[in-house]
Amino acid sequence: MNNTNQPENTKLLEEVNPVFTTAQVCLLVMAEAGDPDANQLGSMLGFDRGISMVDKDELTEMEKFQKMKAIPGFMTTIEARFTASSNLFLHSGLRNILDLPCGYTPRGLQFARRGIPYYGFDLPAVIQVMDGACHRLYQGNTPMCYHKADATNYESLRSALDGVSGELFITTEGLLMYLTQSELEVVFRNIYRLLEEFGGIWVTTDNSIVSAQQSVMQAISEEKEIPSLELKKPTPENVFFDPQQAEQFVAKMGFSLEKIPVYEYLPDHLHTLADYSINVQNKAKEAFRNIYFWIMRAEEGAAAEYTDAQNTFRMHISRQGQTLYLTLQGRVDTLTAPELLSLYRNENEKHACRFVEIDLRDLDYISSAGLRVLLIMVKDRPKNGTVTVTHLKPQVRSVLETSGFIQLFSIKDDLQ
Ligand SMILES: C[S@@+](CC[C@H](N)C(=O)[O-])C[C@H]1O[C@@H](n2cnc3c(N)ncnc32)[C@H](O)[C@@H]1O
Repeated sequence: MNNTNQPENTKLLEEVNPVFTTAQVCLLVMAEAGDPDANQLGSMLGFDRGISMVDKDELTEMEKFQKMKAIPGFMTTIEARFTASSNLFLHSGLRNILDLPCGYTPRGLQFARRGIPYYGFDLPAVIQVMDGACHRLYQGNTPMCYHKADATNYESLRSALDGVSGELFITTEGLLMYLTQSELEVVFRNIYRLLEEFGGIWVTTDNSIVSAQQSVMQAISEEKEIPSLELKKPTPENVFFDPQQAEQFVAKMGFSLEKIPVYEYLPDHLHTLADYSINVQNKAKEAFRNIYFWIMRAEEGAAAEYTDAQNTFRMHISRQGQTLYLTLQGRVDTLTAPELLSLYRNENEKHACRFVEIDLRDLDYISSAGLRVLLIMVKDRPKNGTVTVTHLKPQVRSVLETSGFIQLFSIKDDLQ
């Protein structure tokens, strides 16, 4: 798939995939934890001066970060996750690290300087800036590759691995808890296929990040009053918030599971704990004895049933009277949703129609990014306006139903 044609307008991407902005906070935390590369990268990308992006609470990432700083459990969890995952890779004996999603962390620089090939995968708007910035900071011979990819889009992952040989160490830090159930299934299927072909392991702590934050905060609260924090589940129906359900899901998707305490790979010092007594530092670190890396391997012949969606996206837009007609074809995911939003906006700005009718007979897959665009269309409608979706395939209907979005639309002519 050629991602270079995708619109890379950051603002649009932010609208369709709010997870995208969280990575900036992670980089600021690593800079705060004294990581010199994170510091340099943060300044280069302008994150230290605060950035223009705002979330729905109208806070800039810098303001969000200032709030996070008051919550040491959060800072320590990010530092622990980043450093321990890097250490686990270094001990794994595997050759290729595939960081999905890589966000803005300085891991690529740090590994390439040590002669370790690095492959960072993330959405186009992240990769666009990371690729340029990191290659300005490192010009050596070790491959340090940044690829535009959507974890739900197999082709975007696989095509980036052309020419790579040897087993993969795929690390996922800060993604799975944000995905909807249907996205999780697709991502698991995609990683299964990569591991089936290349061999190797998939490692994550995304199953336990909330309990890690709570345990660290409990240790610190002996010494410091911690502001109360509502730890919200980013995606309510996500199985990763229930350890038992998550384990069943991993097995159902064809993976074996091994758990290793994060504690075993922590560095001697966690800088974000430096202001606390040795006693509290030790207790906070001890919390990571009960927080696990999940090491997943593709079990031979155990792939879950799944039919791949067509790896194309096309749309057609036209207007008749008060109705805007759209037809969508192929996949609407985080890579293609910004294009859909942009085309819709252009047309809607020329003439705000009261009604929108979207023909989905050739739509194979829609991710939460695509659903957000449909939601924007609903919100844009003037009084008494409606959005009608027609000719839903069963798999698309199921996504609309589980997400609750189905109630927002009039439905016409389902396909069987
Ligand atoms: C919480 S950040 C974590 C980034 C990095 N691993 C870290 O620890 O800083 C989440 C990242 O997921 C990326 N992301 C969100 N949805 C994605 C998708 N469907 N495919 C690939 N990356 C995605 C965002 O762009 C963002 O960089």
